[in-house]
Amino acid sequence: MSKLTVDQNQAQISYKKHRAYIFLLKIWAIATLTFGVVLNVKNVIPSISRGEIIFENQSLKLMFLLLLMSVVIISLWEFLHSRYSPIEKWKLEKLLRGFTEESDLLRQHDNSFNQTKSIKWLYSISDSLIIIKLMTGGHVNSEMEKDIARRLHGYFVKETRVSWVLEDRRIKDRLIMMVFSHEADKRLVIEDILSLRQSNELNIQLTQRLSWTIRQPMGLVVGPTGSGKTSLLKVLIISFLANNHKNKVFTIDGKEAFLSVAMSRIGKVATDGQSALELTAELCQIMQQRYEEMNADVDSEKDSTHAELFEQGSILLIADELLALVGEMQASDKMLKPTERIYPQFYSNLMSLIVKGRQASISVVVSGQQMPASILPTETRDSLGLRIALGRMSQQQAQEIFGLGLKDLPRADTSNYGGLIWLDGLDWELPKPFQSPYYDDEKLPFKATLSNIAEAQGGGLPQA
Ligand SMILES: Nc1ncnc2c1ncn2[C@@H]1O[C@H](COP(=O)(O)OP(=O)(O)OP(=O)(O)O)[C@@H](O)[C@H]1O
Ligand SMILES: [Mg+2]
Repeated sequence: MSKLTVDQNQAQISYKKHRAYIFLLKIWAIATLTFGVVLNVKNVIPSISRGEIIFENQSLKLMFLLLLMSVVIISLWEFLHSRYSPIEKWKLEKLLRGFTEESDLLRQHDNSFNQTKSIKWLYSISDSLIIIKLMTGGHVNSEMEKDIARRLHGYFVKETRVSWVLEDRRIKDRLIMMVFSHEADKRLVIEDILSLRQSNELNIQLTQRLSWTIRQPMGLVVGPTGSGKTSLLKVLIISFLANNHKNKVFTIDGKEAFLSVAMSRIGKVATDGQSALELTAELCQIMQQRYEEMNADVDSEKDSTHAELFEQGSILLIADELLALVGEMQASDKMLKPTERIYPQFYSNLMSLIVKGRQASISVVVSGQQMPASILPTETRDSLGLRIALGRMSQQQAQEIFGLGLKDLPRADTSNYGGLIWLDGLDWELPKPFQSPYYDDEKLPFKATLSNIAEAQGGGLPQA
């Protein structure tokens, strides 16, 4: 992080600079004169005796060269520190100074004690992201603090020709943190399996900048019909399988639709209550076994995952249309004795996978049109580090998914399979607008691709 303390306004700075230049110019003039005189003193007598002026102008030439060079260097320096500078850091510095003045950040603390008139900017530029922090020292009032990110964004847009995107902002303890970029995050196109990431642990690219990783092993995808939930799950499945050839996917498809048919090529699939219960029970058993294996390892470090220690790959449980499945389970449970009911057992399996799966390298993604608390209680939701809402969201859904009111959420462009995303552990203040990866079914036919992967893995799993 580079530091910039602003304690003077532009007028003060340019006045001082002006004075400095005049001062230098005077010194130069005096030096030139002195050199001229000193070097020519010895010529005075010969000049008189010969009747013509003998003048040594070597020093004069040298001094003019010096002047020229200084002008060039100073101009270059000024240019590089201007808002037209090709050096991003110096340009930024100029802009921050300009902004400080334009929004009167210095004058703000003049009124009370007239002590330290300064604010501090910290900034760094990395991988196309520009991180700017402003330490106001508490001199700027809190209303203003809240508004600074928006204003700075406006200032950048006004003063430069490049585009600016305010990616993130946060205010904490008189420190305003803002993240800018010159380009909005871009949607991915999934059309070639070879271009997908390989990794020992869960590592799936979601957009140009965002990734779903082991920091947020459990996920939730919610959205109305046709909003692209299943398509997003297809992306997650293919990317997950591409991660590592040892990875396995288990599928629950509550609507017994496309996904169940396709996924039977590569892993176990459940489409009704009973088979979903068996499938989750099996996964819980695998989880148990993996935990035992990990405990057997004396040197095991606390936070290591199974995939990291044993390199046997990760497991992903996809539960599409969970609400439909649960509805069906609960209906048929009514006819059973309480001890035989399927839903409570299924539910407890699913919860323990979500809560404890991470270290056993088991990930779960649940998806559905809605996720009422009766299906996924709030405590469980906190364990879902990846949350994606596709399509239009209702007030109630905003609360359910992100725990925020609709008006507190950023606006999402839902026209093109977009929505909002939340990723835990990245220190975000709010969910971000999200463009779901485009799954190109023509170039990468889902079923055929799964068959190919299954073949490469050695025939896939036997069917349940
Ligand atoms: N990310 C995407 N890439 C490509 N096509 C998409 C994408 N999302 C949605 N689509 C298109 O929109 C259609 C509907 O999307 P999808 O079936 O994924 O929605 P859904 O939310 O699962 O709907 P439902 O609730 O009916 O199951 C898909 O058949 C596909 O043509
Ligand atoms: Mg669907």
